[in-house]
Amino acid sequence: MDSKQDKAIARILDIARLESQLSQNPWLKPMVFSQVTSTNDIVIENLNYVVPSHGIVVVADEQTQGRGRLDRKWTTPAGGAIAMSLGIDQSDLNIELTAVPLVVGVAVRRALANLEISVELKWPNDIIFSSPTMRKVGGILVQLVNGKFIIGIGINVDLDKSELPTAVATSLSLEGFKIDRIDLTCAIVEQISTLRNADNNWFAEYLEVCSTIGREVKVRGLNGTEITGQAVGISTSGALEIKNLENLYQITVGDIEHLEVAAD
Ligand code: BTN
Repeated sequence: MDSKQDKAIARILDIARLESQLSQNPWLKPMVFSQVTSTNDIVIENLNYVVPSHGIVVVADEQTQGRGRLDRKWTTPAGGAIAMSLGIDQSDLNIELTAVPLVVGVAVRRALANLEISVELKWPNDIIFSSPTMRKVGGILVQLVNGKFIIGIGINVDLDKSELPTAVATSLSLEGFKIDRIDLTCAIVEQISTLRNADNNWFAEYLEVCSTIGREVKVRGLNGTEITGQAVGISTSGALEIKNLENLYQITVGDIEHLEVAAD
């Protein structure tokens, strides 16, 4: 057997082990697949199982039509990434839609920090390594359908360079971290459960780990508008506050480019 085959076998997701470990969490019923279009789609198809105090968590080894923010494609080849989506009744989180990616970003960051992997969060939903240049290792996509949050989380775990979609993307293995996808998936679910259980420290923690704050940024709005200014803060509803000579803006949707660290 050649080393490519060895690697492919080593990367196969152990569905039974993941389902059994996820079942320890009483809040979310697990559904694990080898291949789906998008884990967010599977949550939407099963929304009737999502009720107050009981949700679902869908995990797949591979996505054929994974989606990112702003209708972008999200690549999840078999064996190399975490693709998971949670279906949660809105009342279980009790925060605004715009704040959900921030809270979930804090949970993902905590789960990685427990494995001694230190990442930062780029507003609103990117999980990044920032030094010496920005490299994106994961992202979060949140939808609200009929009073239920669909929270999709994608993390590049063991993708090699040829499998990465863009030049700014990276994976944990390319950054030198070898981790077990099952352990990280379960740790993320546990961290989200902790934040759900009235952990109100997420906001202060987000401000500390958000690499966007303090930077000069360019925001491209959905209607083609562009604003350049300094990112000065985040509102408790999750909006990014940008200040320039003309105005103080509250941004809820948009594409953010980090320009350079603002001088003190
Ligand atoms: C982004 O950074 O644009 C968000 C990426 C979110 C990707 C995840 S992978 C699991 C879930 N299913 C999807 O189709 N998208 C999300």
